[in-house]
Amino acid sequence: EIESIATQPASAGTDQIDTESIISKEDFGSDFRWGVATAAYQIEGAVNEDGRADCNWDVFARQSGKIKNRDQATLACDFYHRYEEDLELVQSLGFKQFRFSISWSRILPDGFGKVNQKGIDFYNKLIDKCLSLDIEPWITLYHWDLPQALEVLGGWKNRKVVEWFADYTRICTTAFGDRVRSWIVLNEPMAVAGLGYTTGLHAPGKKGIWNFLPVVHHLALCQAEGGRIIRDNVANSYIGTAISCSYVHAFSESARDVSAAKRADALMNRLFIEPALGLGYPSDAFPFLKNINAYMLEGDAEKLKFDFDFIGLQNYFSVVVKHSYLAPVVWLKEVPAKLRNVPTTAMGWEVNPDGMYQILKQFEKYKGIKEIIVSENGAAFEDVFFENDVSDTKRVVFFQSYLAAILKAKQDGVNVKGYFAWTLMDNFEWAEGYSARFGLVFVDFKSQERVVKDSGKWFAGFLKEAKTC
Ligand code: NOJ
Repeated sequence: EIESIATQPASAGTDQIDTESIISKEDFGSDFRWGVATAAYQIEGAVNEDGRADCNWDVFARQSGKIKNRDQATLACDFYHRYEEDLELVQSLGFKQFRFSISWSRILPDGFGKVNQKGIDFYNKLIDKCLSLDIEPWITLYHWDLPQALEVLGGWKNRKVVEWFADYTRICTTAFGDRVRSWIVLNEPMAVAGLGYTTGLHAPGKKGIWNFLPVVHHLALCQAEGGRIIRDNVANSYIGTAISCSYVHAFSESARDVSAAKRADALMNRLFIEPALGLGYPSDAFPFLKNINAYMLEGDAEKLKFDFDFIGLQNYFSVVVKHSYLAPVVWLKEVPAKLRNVPTTAMGWEVNPDGMYQILKQFEKYKGIKEIIVSENGAAFEDVFFENDVSDTKRVVFFQSYLAAILKAKQDGVNVKGYFAWTLMDNFEWAEGYSARFGLVFVDFKSQERVVKDSGKWFAGFLKEAKTC
């Protein structure tokens, strides 16, 4: 059990990390992997092309009031047609790893059954292009876009999803496993369960706490089952799954706030890693989770386990929480960063590199984790495009300080083996549409022109030479 809820002043921030110190790529070791991460739905576009069918996000985005400015991902970054030049851009920035996800409804328009060869062809071309540029392709199997054909059958609420996902995983590993060694099973399952099926802020927009439990359980089963299938089908594979993590501070030292912080930590950081490690769901800190037992079939405790080669840790911010009677079931409330006088990103997220350090240290305590890859980290800021340039100084400082925090954790013994910046280029940021820009590369969504931001240039310099920031 992880006993690391700290009570800290709400303003705990950058001062604990020495952002002035010089870091270099070499400090991370020659075997450290440097990459950029993307997701199919956020960049591909071409949603009606070559036999692809609707996914849950296509349907969700067509409903009014769901996505800011009624943005749609029908074109997005047009990566489906521009992947060659975009991968050349990845190479020119100096990254040697490219993380992308597969659109399930491109491969299996009906969710299961008949395979769409044109979908397979696209990812084959993409993988081959990576290899020709000496870039290692990393596949995420599921990054939030479920075929609509499965959503109408209940989606993640239907236990059959475990079989559907197993079929899909078998097809992908058989098609791409000869050239792709590194696989990430699920991306941030907590977002799927919490935002997709509980608060309804993400597709499919379902609401209700009682959806949460079966969805969590089915995701956790798929997480492990996916790992087993990759192990069976891909020689010499490197298998992980990606978990969203945010270090949790209690608002005060009062017993109620501390226990609220423990519940938040159970939900945000422990819910998906612990069943995989054979520790079960963290109902010690959050007794409500015992209700998952209603969805457990015989043998499930065993089926939830998988011995991952690495855990993909994704961290953007840390949180402060307090007890609240206004939030039934969870009895906790986040204290927003903007009320705490701390630096924030355009998403309103607290910039706190020390939170990255703390969460890495927290994960280090799990004996069952072999290696950690920071599989996403980045920030949206209000970028200004001026004279063909984006001087995104805040993003440069963000990356420098978070990398310094990761290096500090590594030097303190955390086995971090790689880092993926989120993200290559501005893209469809889910419910925020195109309004939130996270890219190292600026995208003009009308002309589809790409312009490398100062943060992209900084990375290129950092990855090329020894001493930079
Ligand atoms: C995590 C998600 O995996 C990614 O899709 C999203 O764009 C980033 N967070 C930023 O919100």
